[in-house]
Amino acid sequence: MRKNGLVISIDGTAGTGKSTVGKLVARQLGYGFLSTGELYRALAYKVYEQHLPPEDGAQVLALSKRLQFTFVRQEDAVLKMYVDGEYLGAKLHLEETGNVASRVSTHQEARAVLTEKMRAAGQDGGIIMEGRDIGTVVFPDAEVKFYLSASAEERAKRRVKQLEETGECPDYQTILALIKERDYRDSHRAASPLKPAEGAIIIDTSSLTLEQVAQKVLAEIRRVDENK
Ligand code: DC
Repeated sequence: MRKNGLVISIDGTAGTGKSTVGKLVARQLGYGFLSTGELYRALAYKVYEQHLPPEDGAQVLALSKRLQFTFVRQEDAVLKMYVDGEYLGAKLHLEETGNVASRVSTHQEARAVLTEKMRAAGQDGGIIMEGRDIGTVVFPDAEVKFYLSASAEERAKRRVKQLEETGECPDYQTILALIKERDYRDSHRAASPLKPAEGAIIIDTSSLTLEQVAQKVLAEIRRVDENK
């Protein structure tokens, strides 16, 4: 048993609602929530800021070792991340940062460095961690594991709506192509490719609301917790 409760992993492709669902459930349980893509996005942002080539594994690794990550739990359950003392905020969520993140995350050795940071943040439990390899690599011993999926078309629709809400005018076909490209890269890379962990509960979210997905996730966690 861990000090603060269970470790719960939520993996899956981008746009399946992992973050929203993870946050909702973490709040219900009084747990912390960490979106691990933030660490890859931070590394990507620093790579970009320092004009390093994202393909250069040695430089990306050296940079990953230099970065200091700290996490501070907020009232809304989210672990707010500081990199070298700085909160990077919206810079991490630019479309370009996401694309560079998908590239830097192909380097196995830099992944190992970030994986250790994630383990340090979650090992005492009482946490929901969302990402691509949480149940397979970061916490293969997570007490409850989820894998969320949804069709690329449904995820592109959701992303277009999200961007429209922030005042942008995105093109559906461009967004769909970007999503498919990223899916391909994330699931075909040699290092920790995206796939459901052994024992993961798989939920197809295409025709469910995020609230419904959160209810399912919560019900499964309670079931596992009661049977322990
Ligand atoms: O979830 P996200 O869109 O914020 O993630 C950005 C990129 O980081 C994504 O393309 C893949 C990578 N990533 C990863 O390889 N492993 C994780 N655990 C989380 C994210």
